[in-house]
Parts: sequence; C-alpha cells; structure tokens
Amino acid sequence: MPPSFSAEFRTELHRLLAWRRDVRHFRPEPLPEGTLERLLELACLAPSVGLSQPWRFVLVEDAGRRQAVLESFLACNQEALKACPTERAGRYARLKLAGLQEAPHQVAVFCDEATDQGGGLGRRTMPEALRYSAVLAVYTLWLAARAEGVGIGWVSILDPACVHDVLQVPAQWSLVAYLCVGYAVAEDDVPELERAGWERRCPLKRFVLQR
Ligand SMILES: Cc1cc2nc3c(=O)[nH]c(=O)nc-3n(C[C@H](O)[C@H](O)[C@H](O)COP(=O)(O)O)c2cc1C
Repeated sequence: MPPSFSAEFRTELHRLLAWRRDVRHFRPEPLPEGTLERLLELACLAPSVGLSQPWRFVLVEDAGRRQAVLESFLACNQEALKACPTERAGRYARLKLAGLQEAPHQVAVFCDEATDQGGGLGRRTMPEALRYSAVLAVYTLWLAARAEGVGIGWVSILDPACVHDVLQVPAQWSLVAYLCVGYAVAEDDVPELERAGWERRCPLKRFVLQR
C-alpha cells in the first residue's frame, strides 16, 4: 500500500524544511553507533540521473587527514577574507564558517564522474546532471539527519584538489561537499548568516519570472 501523507505530516514536513540549518557549532559527542550509516542509507534514496547513484561517501576519521582539511579551510578562508570588499571584511572575519574542529563526524561527498551505472542516460547534453544528483543525496542526508535531531554543516571553503589528495580517492571522483556532522549546540529557524547580518532570505517573487 503506498502511503497517504496526512495534513499533520505535511505540517511537520514544513517544520523540518524550515528548521533544517547549516550547523557550525557542534557538541563533541559522537552519534550513536550505526546512526551515520543509517542516514547515509536514506541519502541513497535521492533521485539521480539515469539512476546512476554517482555519490561516494568518504568517512574522514583519521586525525592527520582531518588536520590537513582544517588547514585547507583556514588557508582558503584567509584568502576569501582578503578578497572581501572592505565594507564586508569586518563582518566576514567575525563569521564562523565551519565546525571542523568540533564536529565528531566528517563526511566528504564525491561524484564519480566515470561511473557507468545508469548507462549514460540523461548525461549526454548535460553531464553536470551527475553532480546535481550527488547534491541531491547531500540534501536528502541533511533533511533525514535533521529529522532525528542531527545537524550538518556544509564546508565549501576548501581547495578541492587538496581534499582529493588528502583523502586519496580515485582521480575521476570530484568533490561535491565536505560535511561536518553531529549534534548542534543550539537550534534555530533562522539561518546563522541572517542572524549575523551577512545576508537575508528573499521572497519567492524575486526568483520567479514568466515568459
Ligand atoms: C553548496 C553549499 C556550500 C556551503 N558552504 C558553506 C561553507 O563553506 N561555510 C559555511 O559556513 N556555510 C556553508 N554553506 C551553508 C550556507 O551558508 C547556508 O546554507 C545558508 O546560509 C542558509 O542557511 P541554512 O542552511 O541554515 O538555511 C553552504 C551551503 C551550500 C548549499
């Protein structure tokens, strides 16, 4: 029997979407045994072009590799600060843009650009559809995690070539996301960047046009 979703469920889903946050402040305790694997199973329910499932998850556990990723973040963040327009630089410098030092779990998500799963369907004119598929796995993971009180922070202020080398993954894998995973110090329904005065969410009408 296919499920029939109730009005209560839809209200809860709305709350899940509104309360999913990018988390940079993590409590140190690890997730219960098996939780991360279970969440990754749910991420694999994401749609993918041609059913290619190009996502590849690397659980980064080694302290030396974590340190190398942290150093990449610090260097890239410093460069980003230097490139910031003067009027924004002070605000940028005050932002916390990764939880790499506190998060108990770190997951690098790659896209296998050379996978033959899916037989190339849907990728001939838009090869980037493969990476979009991996992004959908990340978002699925993000929602599934938040639904059980687990926070995720996406770190893109990294040198992907450096992360690739540090994690020694196959050459045809491209970095899609580097995720910090764990319990958030605090929950909020407003993005941290909005609370910090960096940016505000805009209304739908700004994003829709008619032709
Ligand atoms: C592709 C992508 C990359 C991101 N990279 C970073 C990052 O490097 N550092 C960071 O603090 N947040 C990063 N974020 C989180 C966004 O800043 C965040 O999603 C946005 O401010 C909205 O907040 P919310 O996710 O809590 O709704 C990233 C988000 C996405 C989707």
